[in-house]
Amino acid sequence: MLVLTGIGTLVTNDVTLERGKLGVINNAALVVGDDNKVALACEAVNLPRELRTNAVDIGGRAVIPGFVDSHTHLVFGGDRALEFEARMSGKPYTAGGIRTTMSATRGASNDTLAENARRLANEALHTGTTTLETKSGYGLSVLDETRSLQVATSITSETTFLGAHVVPPDSQIDDYVNLVCGEMLAQCAPSAKWIDVFCDRGAFEVDHARAILSAGAKAGLGMRIHANQLQHGGGVQLGVELGVASCDHCTHLNDADISALADSNGSTVATLLPTAELCTRSQFPDARRLIDAGVTVALASDCNPGSSYTTSMPLVISLAVLNMNMTCEEAVWSATAGGAAALRRQDIGTLRIGASADFTVLNTPSYIHLAYRPGVKLVDAVFRLGGCVAGSLL
Ligand code: NIG
Ligand code: FE
Repeated sequence: MLVLTGIGTLVTNDVTLERGKLGVINNAALVVGDDNKVALACEAVNLPRELRTNAVDIGGRAVIPGFVDSHTHLVFGGDRALEFEARMSGKPYTAGGIRTTMSATRGASNDTLAENARRLANEALHTGTTTLETKSGYGLSVLDETRSLQVATSITSETTFLGAHVVPPDSQIDDYVNLVCGEMLAQCAPSAKWIDVFCDRGAFEVDHARAILSAGAKAGLGMRIHANQLQHGGGVQLGVELGVASCDHCTHLNDADISALADSNGSTVATLLPTAELCTRSQFPDARRLIDAGVTVALASDCNPGSSYTTSMPLVISLAVLNMNMTCEEAVWSATAGGAAALRRQDIGTLRIGASADFTVLNTPSYIHLAYRPGVKLVDAVFRLGGCVAGSLL
């Protein structure tokens, strides 16, 4: 059993407390039971006497649920620093860069891929991410997608088959779609929980995306989609029509897209990825428009070597507040409970009683500092299943 007291601000995301969207308890205590779940979250004055003896006083620091980064691409070889440099000199970002990483990924051993993915997952952990989703999508052959997913399973259970990232060179689109829906899916499905398609300019059209997602669903995978990142298109509406868990990017949306997402009543989340806009110098999506319409919004890092080479959810939160019209409260919710909703998980992204004891101790008195102090290391300690897995309480 672990008992923390002296928590300046405890974010529980427990709406039943009727303490705002974040279920904030000030001057709080948090108790983790022997089952590694939250046993109690309360004001410290209400902590039962018998639990006070071994309590650790954290001196007024804030505790938040671990970040749930519901969109990353950590399985890849090489990097694209030169492409980034060219982009910063004025060259536009296109989906075509994915093929550069495809070559480096095909040339990398399983051990190299696993080591790189683990390094990035560890980097994410140290900035407070306790659950992450990650995808294949840089192999683009049956063999390389299969081994990419095997690598992905070594770092997370939230794995996504993204054979339909782009069409590899020397393939015809119809043939490739048939391969993705047939042999590639059959080989990859045992290591995947989700299927995803990049439905955008330079990648896949709506009809192909529909065929691929439907084949994935038939094979027992949950669906998600990369949609409306580079231009306006039918990806978001397709996502809602198919009931995907999340439409990701959502940079270019019209009113009909927003109504469709809102009408899903939270069943399809809009996952916004502001570091992708930052690193491609693109227009940020307007989260306010989505939230005001009643859409459930998640925030994620999109960590990948092309459009967003960062694992930092605190940076994502800063950008969402500073550039996307989100309040501090909304951004922290979207990076925790929102990410969990995008993965259809109820056990994480919250510190309500019974949730997994995944949380982060900040070196600040409030969650507000996550947006207020951009680029500064604010994480003191990260706990997963009640155990300290990064940093320390000292
Ligand atoms: O989410 N949009 C598609 N896929 C990635 C980018 C991949 C890349 O450029 O390597 C993304 O931004
Ligand atoms: Fe992505």
